[in-house]
Amino acid sequence: MDQSTPSYQADALIAADIDAYLLQHQHKSLLRFITCGSVDDGKSTLIGRLLYDSKMIFEDQLAALEADSKRVGTQGQNIDFALLVDGLAAEREQGITIDVAYRFFATEKRKFIVADTPGHEQYTRNMVTGASTADLAVILIDARKGVLTQTRRHSYLAHLIGIKNIVLAVNKMDLIGYDQAKYDSIVADYASFAKSIGIESFVPMPISGFVGDNITTKSTNTPWYEGVPLIQHLETVELDVTSAAAKPFRLPVQWVNRPNLDFRGFAGLIASGSVRPGDAVRVLPSGKTSTVTRIVTLDGDLEMAAAGQSITLCFADEIDCSRGDVITGADAPVQVADQFEATIVWMADEALLPGRAYWLKLGTQTVTATIHAPKYQVNVNTLEHVAAKTLELNAIGVANVTTDRPIPFEPYAENRALGGFILIDKLNNATVGAGLLNFSLRRSQNVHWQALDVSRETHARLKNQRPSVLWFTGLSGAGKSTIANLVEKRLVRMNRHTFLLDGDNVRHGLNKDLGFTQADRVENIRRIGEVAKLMTDAGLIVLTAFISPFRAERQMVRDMMAPGEFIEIFVDTPLAEAEARDVKGLYKKARAGQLKNFTGIDSPYEPPTAAELRIDTTKMTPEEAADLIVETLIP
Ligand code: ADX
Repeated sequence: MDQSTPSYQADALIAADIDAYLLQHQHKSLLRFITCGSVDDGKSTLIGRLLYDSKMIFEDQLAALEADSKRVGTQGQNIDFALLVDGLAAEREQGITIDVAYRFFATEKRKFIVADTPGHEQYTRNMVTGASTADLAVILIDARKGVLTQTRRHSYLAHLIGIKNIVLAVNKMDLIGYDQAKYDSIVADYASFAKSIGIESFVPMPISGFVGDNITTKSTNTPWYEGVPLIQHLETVELDVTSAAAKPFRLPVQWVNRPNLDFRGFAGLIASGSVRPGDAVRVLPSGKTSTVTRIVTLDGDLEMAAAGQSITLCFADEIDCSRGDVITGADAPVQVADQFEATIVWMADEALLPGRAYWLKLGTQTVTATIHAPKYQVNVNTLEHVAAKTLELNAIGVANVTTDRPIPFEPYAENRALGGFILIDKLNNATVGAGLLNFSLRRSQNVHWQALDVSRETHARLKNQRPSVLWFTGLSGAGKSTIANLVEKRLVRMNRHTFLLDGDNVRHGLNKDLGFTQADRVENIRRIGEVAKLMTDAGLIVLTAFISPFRAERQMVRDMMAPGEFIEIFVDTPLAEAEARDVKGLYKKARAGQLKNFTGIDSPYEPPTAAELRIDTTKMTPEEAADLIVETLIP
């Protein structure tokens, strides 16, 4: 082997001193990119070629290099795992993964992480995950086939996720005899499509992964090609972190650093822009301002810090600032809102349930959010907008989102770190979706909470009672209404002010537009929760008798109420028993197939795991149950 080649020297250095080798790598910038295409397009061959022709980092060095690439983040060369991935990374630690194969390699100029995701439509979520951290996308085309449906889908997704650098790699040029006319027509074809979806520019290249044309060196087979080979382009393309530094200053606060009473600083990774001591800053959502006194890092104080660096900021004033807040320049704050339009990619097997409360993780903040029924879904192959009531696995749609409190944000198109979010199932912590905030809804700025002079405390005091919600849950026919009714009679006899909300009754009025699909039951309970909340504000003791089959919605209502106000009563009647009683004859109909989605038959019931009280109706009469409830739960 030629001992003067860079590759040989790298090998020699690895053999002699792996630490020195890694140190050398540390000072290189890192480009993350994604390859889009299927095996037929020659994706594996191309990746293999990149790894082979450059310096592949071997398995046992990967961990060191990955740790190393995280360190690079603190040294200002890498924007790091933006927010989408913050969550996905956490998830990876929990062992629930959305499968993306990351490969590492390096040349003498740069390090690379390539996310290799499968190309088929059923892997949309994987591609979105891989793309969420990428600076660049290589869209592979088989020169014999030209622009295909999947080319359009991949390009749309890459553009949606905000990847600014697109390489159109027209592969297998050897199989079309390096025909320039054919290449030009594919590029022209792609250009008109790209323009239609808003891709402003892309870099086309005629390559052959198999032969090696225009990968590391310019190929003599394509003398008409005026651009650079692929690796050279990857080595020199501007990184997102470099362009982010020129934008306004944004620091999502990760944690408050307070080792002692004399020091208080706000730590985080700069998402964009730069900061210097003396800069006037503003903390969102509070809007409080102060001046930066110090920029502290592990390597000492800095005179300037920019996008991609992890820092701790100290202020001249003792203003409130905590995890999830965003620090900006005083004159260029981010927006704050609690209602948005968002584009959502659904990533879970179980479909989106509009109205259900999910965790929404954006930047360093985690809030509760509900997604409204989608406005439309995008057919990722034709890019048509189609009507949708929900989003299934891998579906992409646009919907309004409401958060439980105002959050600082920026539209995703302007700032990936402050406009991208993930949605997490509250019960099992799985990532169920990823989304991009498009804009805030004007109503969220124009509808304000009205402060009222007669408070909920006044209402409660007048009635001489502590408001609460007795939430009865259980199968149809379990005895919820019967027991709730008896409890209410006893309470009224005790001069308590009550109101009983009953499933069958509320479904005749407020909720008469709802049926029994999962989505409708979620909405049913959400509305009942809101009504019960208003009634407790009015000072009432509210009794509700709904099947309320899902834990998530019962938890959502619990979270809406003041601590201790929500009292869950599980009316536990085994299915066989409820079915044997069959007061309304509905079980019979359901068994006969005349009633669909019947709870316990072909629709699930999730029993409470920590109800305040469990009533076993096989051991107690309704009267005994009512006495027990009043004795134990009513002060
Ligand atoms: S919930 O699941 O959304 O909480 P809710 O308590 O409002 O249900 O309504 C349940 C009542 O509706 C039942 O007691 C029964 O009388 C009636 N019902 C009609 N169809 C169904 C069905 N498919 N599943 C359950 N209950 C049904």
